[in-house]
Amino acid sequence: MGSARHLCSALLVVFLLGLHHSSSFWIVNVVFPPNAKPRVSSNSTPPLIIVPGNLGNRLEAKINKPTLVHWMCYKKTEHWFPLWIDLNMFMPIGVDCWIDNIRLVYNRTTRRSSNSPGVKVRVPGFGQTYPIEFLDSNKLAGYFFTMVQHLVNIGYIRNETVRGAPYDWRLAPNENSEYFTKLQDLVEEMYDQYQQPVYLLGHSMGCHYVLYFLNHQPQAWKDKYIKGFISLGAPWGGAVKPLRVLASGENDGIPMISNIKIREEQRMTTTNPWMLPSEEVWPKDHVFISTPTFNYTNQDYQRLFTDINYEDGWFMWEDTKNLTGDLHPPGVEVWCMYGVGLPTPITYIYDEEFPNGDPVDFVYADGDNTVDSFSMSQCKGWAGQQEKPVHVTEYRGLAHLDIVFHEKVLNLIQDILEGNSDTPKEIDVRSHIE
Ligand SMILES: *[C@@H]1O[C@H](CO)[C@@H](O)[C@H](O)[C@H]1NC(C)=O
Ligand SMILES: *[C@@H]1O[C@H](CO)[C@@H](O)[C@H](O)[C@H]1NC(C)=O
Ligand SMILES: *[C@@H]1O[C@H](CO)[C@@H](O)[C@H](O)[C@H]1NC(C)=O
Ligand SMILES: *[C@@H]1O[C@H](CO)[C@@H](O)[C@H](O)[C@H]1NC(C)=O
Repeated sequence: MGSARHLCSALLVVFLLGLHHSSSFWIVNVVFPPNAKPRVSSNSTPPLIIVPGNLGNRLEAKINKPTLVHWMCYKKTEHWFPLWIDLNMFMPIGVDCWIDNIRLVYNRTTRRSSNSPGVKVRVPGFGQTYPIEFLDSNKLAGYFFTMVQHLVNIGYIRNETVRGAPYDWRLAPNENSEYFTKLQDLVEEMYDQYQQPVYLLGHSMGCHYVLYFLNHQPQAWKDKYIKGFISLGAPWGGAVKPLRVLASGENDGIPMISNIKIREEQRMTTTNPWMLPSEEVWPKDHVFISTPTFNYTNQDYQRLFTDINYEDGWFMWEDTKNLTGDLHPPGVEVWCMYGVGLPTPITYIYDEEFPNGDPVDFVYADGDNTVDSFSMSQCKGWAGQQEKPVHVTEYRGLAHLDIVFHEKVLNLIQDILEGNSDTPKEIDVRSHIE
């Protein structure tokens, strides 16, 4: 067991280095975080709540299962244990146990998801920063640690003036209503405590969560409680990548898990269909998936879900497409930041092995290597649609995940929080050491 755990840790490190394409960058920023100094007196730091992206906070589970997918899987636990990130997912049989624990069961009649039979899932640490700073208790998988440390260096206090709002990212907002009540309570609590309106900061899908939250609050509430919304790398018009993830799987470099294996898990969540390229934003004739027998546009999702043998996905897409699909303006001051200048797939080309083989070719457009800039730049449209200012900053050469680590992003966030709202339209990060 001990040596297995050791092996797991080693694999996790490999996984993390793979995830951050520029590994030296990861070591520099996570292991040796930046040492920022406050430029203004720090006793008035405006309170900040961070909403992470998909897969971006810890989940815990407790199980008492009626059946097992493999005799080696645990059947019953007395305590809550880490479900994400669970080191077992890096082991050959462990991955099957893990998928059977984390999967959701979708019911087409009630249009609701439930946990796998005999599994309870909870989100630890709401209102604290630890579940988003590191995704594992060994502190190997760093996510918001670098940013939170930067904030602490300029006068913020963990769990007090800077807090995390983790959520069950397997579910879209229509099935997470309690979360929005908790988030509202947290905003009001911080407002009362620090006598100042609160900043919300989102990354990737977390930005859609923030938008949904703001769209469901009265303008008077937002005027009183919210100082601004900082959005990092938001796929406002949806993302093309979930199409590949759902069709043929994408392991993002996780060792020992095949794409087809990870597809099993990815098909269980409703957030992937929610993030598909939206009908409102993308041209109706753009081909996202090309196969020898059919070219799929966003008008062909029903056929696509049938052809990839995942019909639940069509129902999930119908349930979620209107949640933030119309991009109704948030009604608060917005800083919309994203990476540009990196080739990003906007069409996946498959051969006859579709959907059980990887794409054989790609059509690229400009983006942050995960989401295209056409989708992320949709926030520009809010400028004429709301009274509050909308600031857009494009980072040339910055990758999707790196936006939560990069020094130039952290410095700009610091500027905003210190009250300098005028931000440059473009910042080049390419000359920076990688
Ligand atoms: C879905 O929910 C309905 C209503 O609660 C229930 O009758 C049905 O058995 C459920 N379907 C499955 C496959 O569990
Ligand atoms: C924040 O809260 C968590 C959980 O209660 C705790 O482990 C951590 O030490 C706290 N951090 C600080 C800086 O107080
Ligand atoms: C898909 O589109 C490509 C490029 O326009 C075209 O060459 C191909 O024949 C189309 N395939 C099908 C099956 O319609
Ligand atoms: C989504 O919005 C469209 C257009 O506004 C509407 O026709 C459709 O009924 C809505 N769907 C759901 C599930 O609310």
